Formats: sequence, C-alpha cells, structure tokens
Amino acid sequence: MRIRPARAEDAALLLELRNDPDTRRYSVHTGVVTEQEHRAWLQQSLTRTDRILLIAEQDGEPIGTVRFDLENPNDREEPETWELSITLAPDKRGRGLAGPVLHAAQNHLTEQRPVRSIRARVRTGNTASLALFARAGYRQYRTEDGFVLLELAP
Ligand SMILES: CC(C)(COP(=O)(O)OP(=O)(O)OC[C@H]1O[C@@H](n2cnc3c(N)ncnc32)[C@H](O)[C@@H]1OP(=O)(O)O)[C@@H](O)C(=O)NCCC(=O)NCCS
Repeated sequence: MRIRPARAEDAALLLELRNDPDTRRYSVHTGVVTEQEHRAWLQQSLTRTDRILLIAEQDGEPIGTVRFDLENPNDREEPETWELSITLAPDKRGRGLAGPVLHAAQNHLTEQRPVRSIRARVRTGNTASLALFARAGYRQYRTEDGFVLLELAP
C-alpha cells in the first residue's frame, strides 16, 4: 500500500469515487458532480496550498483517495487544523483496508505540513466510517445537523 499525491490523470478515478451512490449518501454535498465541474475542481485542487489530495494504491492499482483541507487558515486560535475526507473504491470496502490507508495519509500529511489536529465530519449513520475513526483514536467533540465531528488531537 502506498500513498501518492493526486495528478490530473486521476480525474476519471476521482469522479467515479465522488459519484458513487454510497459516497454521495455520506458526503456533505450529496448531488452528482458533472465531468466539467469535476475538471475545474481538480485543476484548482492540485494547485491550492490549503488542500492536499492523495491517492492510495495497492500493488500499483488505485484503491481510494484521501483529501485534507486546511480549516480557517487565518484563525490564530486554531492554526494547522486539517479536515479529512476518505473514500475507498466500492469494491475495496469492507476488507480492513481503510485503517492502513488512513494512517499512511496522516503520515504523509505530517511529513509535509505542520499539523495541530485532524478533524473529520461523518454522517451519524455511517457506521464503517465511525468505526474507522474510533479505532484510529479520533474523539467526538460535537454533533451538528446529522453529522458527528471527530478530532485526532496531538
Ligand atoms: C468509510 C470507508 C473509507 C471505510 O472503509 P471500509 O473498507 O468500508 O472499512 P473497513 O473494512 O476498513 O472497516 C473499518 C471499520 O468499520 C467496520 N465496518 C466496515 N463495514 C461496516 C458496515 N457495513 N457496518 C458496520 N461496520 C462496518 C469494520 O468492522 C471496521 O471496524 P473495526 O476496525 O472496529 O473492526 C468506506 O466505507 C468508504 O469509502 N465509504 C464511502 C465514503 C465515506 O463514507 N467516507 C467517509 C466520510 S469521511
């Protein structure tokens, strides 16, 4: 298993992951993303300094993606807080791969950037995701509009 930064060539893979019905059901924004919207989003994502977009590969084959977004870059009270989103390819789910992918992505982030904490926003019914983050040491700090907000503090 290895983690690498996403590239423009990953566009089709990332769009497929984004528009998968289960991914959408558990996303903050649940609508279908068009190819055109996605192309613009990806192009921007690859150049922004407040976003890190990663691809997880197993035996050279992409198995999922992790995105980190810097929260409130100008907030002095919460500097270096990153919000994480993780998605595995539908045929790779339920096999215990999410934990290793999450850890590899967290390691990649901390090697690249200062990190005070990592947060995740998970829908209350997203059992696999809640189990994943609980096992990885994330603690719930709030619930909000059907989401559980979790944090991995230093
Ligand atoms: C969330 C996601 C990455 C988890 O990956 P996964 O391969 O399904 O999960 P894993 O097989 O690695 O298992 C993670 C934990 O969830 C549990 N789990 C997995 N599927 C489950 C299910 N359907 N119901 C209940 N628990 C489940 C596992 O037992 C494991 O818990 P444990 O470590 O305590 O045994 C994956 O389901 C996914 O990509 N979902 C769609 C996108 C999404 O919801 N992302 C999260 C938003 S931040």
